[in-house]
Amino acid sequence: MEEKIENRTAEIVVIGLGYIGLPTAIMFATAGFNVIGYEIRREVVDKINSGEAHIVEPEIDELLQGVVGSGKLRATSDPEEIKDREVYIICVQTPLNGDKTPNLSYLESAVKTVAKAMRKGSLVVIESTVPPLTTVRMAKLIEEMTGFKAGEDFHMVHAPERVMPGRIFKELVYNSRIFGGITPESAELAEKLYRSFVKGQTFKTNSTVSEVVKLMENTFRDVNIALANEFAYLAHQYGIDVFEAIELANTHPRVRIHTPGIGVGGHCLPKDPHLLVWPAREDFGLIRLAREINDGMPLLAKDLLFEALKTVNLPPEKAVVAVLGLAYKGDSDDTRNSPAKAFIEAIEGDVGEVRTYDPFVGGTHGSVEEALNGADAVVIATDHSEFKSLDWERLGGLMRTRILIDGRHVVEEPPEGFVFKGIGRGEY
Ligand SMILES: NC(=O)c1ccc[n+]([C@@H]2O[C@H](COP(=O)([O-])OP(=O)(O)OC[C@H]3O[C@@H](n4cnc5c(N)ncnc54)[C@H](O)[C@@H]3O)[C@@H](O)[C@H]2O)c1
Repeated sequence: MEEKIENRTAEIVVIGLGYIGLPTAIMFATAGFNVIGYEIRREVVDKINSGEAHIVEPEIDELLQGVVGSGKLRATSDPEEIKDREVYIICVQTPLNGDKTPNLSYLESAVKTVAKAMRKGSLVVIESTVPPLTTVRMAKLIEEMTGFKAGEDFHMVHAPERVMPGRIFKELVYNSRIFGGITPESAELAEKLYRSFVKGQTFKTNSTVSEVVKLMENTFRDVNIALANEFAYLAHQYGIDVFEAIELANTHPRVRIHTPGIGVGGHCLPKDPHLLVWPAREDFGLIRLAREINDGMPLLAKDLLFEALKTVNLPPEKAVVAVLGLAYKGDSDDTRNSPAKAFIEAIEGDVGEVRTYDPFVGGTHGSVEEALNGADAVVIATDHSEFKSLDWERLGGLMRTRILIDGRHVVEEPPEGFVFKGIGRGEY
């Protein structure tokens, strides 16, 4: 196996061709391996085999056309086609159920597919973010299904992914990586494999440590954003601008306060803290509270909007509200767990009309001007570049009432003639 990895003749199957799996398959194929992508969505398989990516990511189209054209990467939905390969890399989604418990059904189904296909000696890698102890549990599942002994008859590793959408191909190469093996030999083998394209540092540990490391990283960010959001609440109480206060506090050599805002979205940050604490079955107050604070931020934006409406004596049910931004972060089309959507859900039914505009996602209106024409209030929910240089004097001329709520600290100076409120900025 080691030799096959070194001379790149090991055949690799990537299970799940989404935001993580497709770029990973492309990287291994570009490094010279023969790669088969196994994906349950037929339309995704067809698209990939015709050289077209189904996700938006810089460089992906040229890279995909290259490896599909050279025959190094092909996709399939047929489990027969992935039998007896050396390496299986699982990149399926690990979302939450409605009650915030982990939904591991995609992972379990992928592991079962692998168990039916693999051979003695195969290396199985889980790249998906999973609750602690899951890799060991999945190794047991494979043992039960195959009769193979983990660590002896097959290798198994958790190799978490740390890339950020929009920078995936750079970060796949230059980020440091962690390989958590169920045995040291498993970790060593996976490290050798990924060294075929990874130029960042690599570290080896056991699978439970690597699962916890990945989850701690995102929990660290979530809790720190919650702290910044709590500071924003306090700033409203004291009538100060939290962004000025944070900038000054961050001049301290050992302080780096995060950025408050209308909420935390995306596929990972809102779910990973839940995955971290779930197997412990105990109440971890700080982590849970941070989630609650961040989930509550769209409601603070709603309160700011309703306070502003009060100052102009406009009943909410008569107000036309334009929301700028639907994606969860600036210059992206990703709307997964977007706080903009949570904000819209919170005001819908209470206000007269909700309009939306997002340059990457679409919306009910095709431009800022169209969305603001005759509107009473505008709420900025995403920090897209386009929203940073808007001419508020001109746009104010289109509006029926001039209320501006900034949920993302996009507007530096409150524009003249507007009732302005921002998260963490001045009195409530
Ligand atoms: N997206 C990110 O930025 C990011 C970053 C770091 C880690 N992660 C983690 O990586 C994992 C994958 O995330 P993603 O964003 O790529 O998800 P995704 O939803 O974009 O992709 C998952 C793909 O797997 C397919 N799939 C599901 N079950 C399958 C099965 N049994 N067999 C074959 N295919 C199957 C789905 O159809 C889908 O195309 C998650 O655990 C996530 O937490 C994601």
